[in-house]
This record gives sequence, structure tokens and C-alpha cells, in this order.
Amino acid sequence: MTAAALGRPRVHHRATDSTNARARDLAAAGAPHGTLVTAGEQTSGRGRQGRRWSAPASRALLGSLVLREPPRLLPLAAGVAVADAVSAEAVLKWPNDVLVGGRKVAGILVEARLTEGWAVLGIGVNVALREEDFPAQLRGVAGTLGRSPEEVEPTLERLLVELERWLGADEPDVLSAVRDRDCLLGQAVRWADGEGVAAGVDDDGRLLVQSAGGEVALAAGEVHLRR
Ligand code: BTN
Repeated sequence: MTAAALGRPRVHHRATDSTNARARDLAAAGAPHGTLVTAGEQTSGRGRQGRRWSAPASRALLGSLVLREPPRLLPLAAGVAVADAVSAEAVLKWPNDVLVGGRKVAGILVEARLTEGWAVLGIGVNVALREEDFPAQLRGVAGTLGRSPEEVEPTLERLLVELERWLGADEPDVLSAVRDRDCLLGQAVRWADGEGVAAGVDDDGRLLVQSAGGEVALAAGEVHLRR
């Protein structure tokens, strides 16, 4: 295993608003590829779809990387890297939620200004959260690796190694890894504009859904399992 180049330089905040916000500022100011911002706690952690992402101090991995010339399938490659770093049992819910035992243990938020030559890859992993740390509406949905707070840093080290590997991997390998871990395949799903049965991921990383009107390819957004 080679040492990861991603993660240097590193800025650690005991507490900050959002590591993605801090990394975006650094990226816009010219920070090099691989710059990592981590925090023990976020006061305004950002999730996908404009949601918040919160975790108690020192119990979650909270980090954002500045990437120059990110790979085309960055959101998917990042999901595979996180899954590989956290558990052999981890699966992916398109585009990149990482689930263990049917519960989401990690989230990924990519924010990019490709015309300015950067993307920020933000990752939150519930390394050491306890059941009581989740708000009532997330119980049974959000999960935790159930490790100790001392495991946050070693989990970050494993993650950086996997990111190094998967962000540099060939697209067919990334897609194959995504398909191996795809927990939506064959499941009834719904999204903002319709519903159908998930039918895999195409070569552009889009989610294929077989709906009443034919096959649809979703490029962005969110899908939910129909119950
Ligand atoms: C999601 O909604 O699934 C994405 C969550 C991403 C959360 C991480 S925590 C570290 C980084 N900083 C943020 O403000 N968000 C991301």
C-alpha cells in the first residue's frame, strides 16, 4: 500500500461551519490538488439537495478535498472509495450514498467550478455515532460504523488510500465496482418526476429506470425506494 498524496496539505479545524465551504475558499484562492480540510465539528454541515449534515463533535469523519481536473465519474468513484474504506458489506445507493445493513453511514457532496479548474469532494462518515446521536426522524435510516472516536483518524487514512486508487481508476473499473455494489438494482423506486424499477447504471454513470413509459436515464437528483 503506497502513501496517499491526497490529503496534503491538510487544514484541521476543531470546529468550522462546513469543511466544503472552507475547501471551496481554498480552491478559489489557488490551493493545490489534494488539499484536505477536516473538522472535529461542523456548525453548518451541508448535505445534498440543500439539506443539512450534522454530527456530534469528534464522532464523525468530516472532510473535504480540493481536486484539480477531477475524473468525469467523480461522484461514483468517490462512493466506491468510501464503501471500500468502511466495510466489506457496504453497498451503494445511487449516486453515492454508502449503506451498511440498510442504513446510510456516509454521504458525499461534490461541489465544482470546472471553469475555474476545481471540484471539492466533501465526505461525511458516521464512524462513532451512537443511536442516541441521531434525531428521531433519522432513526432506522441513518447508520453508524459503531466504532470508537479514536477510529476517526485511521478511517480517514484508509479513505485517502482508497480515494487515491478509485479517483485514478479507469472508468470501466469504476462502473464495474459501482454495479457490484448497486443496492437499487431491481428495486421499485420513485423520484421527483416518476417511478419505476431500477435497472442499473449506464456508462455515463446515470441511473437507468424501467418505467411504464420506457427506460429513463437519471443524471442527477435523488431516488427513493418505494415501499
Ligand atoms: C449527503 O447529503 O449525503 C452528503 C453529505 C455530505 C456531508 C459532508 S461532511 C464533510 C463535508 N462538509 C460539508 O459541509 N458536507 C460534507
